[in-house]
Amino acid sequence: MKRSRFQDVSLGVGPRERPPSRWLAEELRSAIIEGRLARGARLPSSRDLARQYGLARGTVVGVFEHLRSEGYVVGKVGAGTFVSTNLPDQRPLTWRDRINPGARRTSVGLSARGRQMSRTCFPREPVAQIAVPFRAYQPDLDAFPLALWSRLAARRQRLARRALLGVGDPRGYRPLREAVAAYLGSARGVTCDADQILIVSSVQQALDLAARLLLDPGEPAWIEDPAYPGARLVLEAAGVKLVPVPADAHGIDVAAGRRVCPRARLAYVTPAHQVPLGGRLSLERRFALLEWAYSQGAWIFEDDYDSEFRYDGPPFAALKGLDGGGAVLYCGSFSKMLFPALRLAYLVVPPALVDGFAAARSLVDRFPPVLGQAVLCDFITEGHFARHVRAMRELYGSRLAVLRGGVRKLSGMLELAPESAGLDIVGWLPAEINDRVAVAAAAQHGVEVRAVSQYAVKRPAPSGLVLGFAAVNATEIDTGLGQLAAALREVMERHP
Ligand SMILES: Cc1ncc(COP(=O)(O)O)c(C=O)c1O
Repeated sequence: MKRSRFQDVSLGVGPRERPPSRWLAEELRSAIIEGRLARGARLPSSRDLARQYGLARGTVVGVFEHLRSEGYVVGKVGAGTFVSTNLPDQRPLTWRDRINPGARRTSVGLSARGRQMSRTCFPREPVAQIAVPFRAYQPDLDAFPLALWSRLAARRQRLARRALLGVGDPRGYRPLREAVAAYLGSARGVTCDADQILIVSSVQQALDLAARLLLDPGEPAWIEDPAYPGARLVLEAAGVKLVPVPADAHGIDVAAGRRVCPRARLAYVTPAHQVPLGGRLSLERRFALLEWAYSQGAWIFEDDYDSEFRYDGPPFAALKGLDGGGAVLYCGSFSKMLFPALRLAYLVVPPALVDGFAAARSLVDRFPPVLGQAVLCDFITEGHFARHVRAMRELYGSRLAVLRGGVRKLSGMLELAPESAGLDIVGWLPAEINDRVAVAAAAQHGVEVRAVSQYAVKRPAPSGLVLGFAAVNATEIDTGLGQLAAALREVMERHP
C-alpha cells in the first residue's frame, strides 16, 4: 500500500465490538474531526483497508459512500478517496481538540499494559477554565467560597506542626476520615468506621486500586453499558475482562448480568445517577445485585460521584447502606461537590480489605497530601461543606429548571430525560441523527456537548447528547440553547 498519512492513525479507540460498518465509520469520522487524519490526506483503497482491519470490502465501500454523503471525504475518479479539505465541522479549537484522543503517537515503545493505558484521553494543553455551555461534569467554580477556603488554608499553614509536615498515613489524615465517616452516616446512610476509609485522590485512583487488588488479569467484571469511560478504561488497563451489562432507566440490569456472566468477580455501578443515562438503580435491582454478589463472593464497586445533587427530593441513600454482607466498596469524590483540582476522594472498604488497600496505596503513592486534607477537614467539621452543598443543590436545581424550560424551543430536535439529579442530563435526539455529528456541529456553534454513543461499551447506544447545566447561569443556558438549536437544525437539514 502506498504510504500515506493514514498509516500514522490508529483506528480502534473507543467502544469495540460494534457492527463493523459502524465501527469503521465512527473511527474514521473521529480521526477526521480530531485532525488525526489531515485534510486532503488520501485514504487507503477499500481493498487495502478491508485487508488491514479484516473487514468485508463491501463494508468499507459502504462506509466511504456514507462519509462522502456527510461531506467528510471526497472521491476523485481514478485517484481514490481523500479527506475533504472543506469539512462539514470546521470550527474554532475547543477543549475536545486539545485532548489527546488516545493516539498511537503516545504508544511507541510501550508495553502491552502501557499501550492499553495510553489509550485514555488527557489534556495536551492547559484547559481554559471558562464556563462553556454545556460542558459536562462541571460544578460551578465561581460559586465556590474561595475566600473562606483561603482563610482556612492560611490558618492551617500558620499553625502547621510536625504532624502535618512529616510522613502521613497511607489511609489518609485520621481527623478527615472521621469527618467523612460522620458525613456518610448522616447524608448517605453509610455506616462505617473511620478505619474503613481510605482518602484517595479520585474515584479513578480508587477504581484502579480496586481492580488491581481484587481481580487477576483476565478475570471478568460487569460494567454498565453504556458506562462512564473513565471506569471502562481503567478496568481495561488493569487487564480486567469487561462484561458489558445493559443499563436502562432503572440502572444496571442485574438479571441480564447473571445470564451473561454469573461468575464475574466485580460489578462497577453508578446506582445514584447512572452515567450517562441518569437513572437511579431501582430498589429491586439493588437487592438483586447484593444477592448476586453474596452468592458468588463477588465485589460491587459503588461510584457515588455526584449523589448529593438531587433536585426532586432528598438524595436517595447509597447502595452501601443495604450491604449487610460486606460486598460493596463505596466511593465518593470531592471533585463535583467542591472542585476538581482538590484531588481528594474517599473509598470505604470492608474491614478485611483495609490493610491490603493501605499497603497498595503506600506502594504506589505513599500517602495523600496532608495539608489539603487538613483544610478539607476544617471545611467539613466547621459546617461549611454542608452549607455549600445545600447552596449548590439549590443553584443547580434552578439551572436545570431553566434548561428544561428553554429546551422546549428545541422541540422535535432534543428531548430531555426526566431525571432531576447530578450536574448533567441526557437530551435525546431523533434516531436518524448521528450524535457525534451533532456534537461536531454544536462545537462549530460554540457549544460543548458529549455524544451518548461515546459511552457505549458493546450495545449501540441511542442517539443523544449529554449536557452539563450546573456551571452555566440562566443567560448562558439560554444563549447556549440558541446555539445548539442552530447546530441541530443544520444537522437535520443535512439528514432530512
Ligand atoms: C461516574 C463518574 N465517576 C467519577 C468521576 C470523576 O471523579 P474523580 O475526579 O474523583 O475521578 C466522574 C467525572 O466525571 C464520573 O462521571
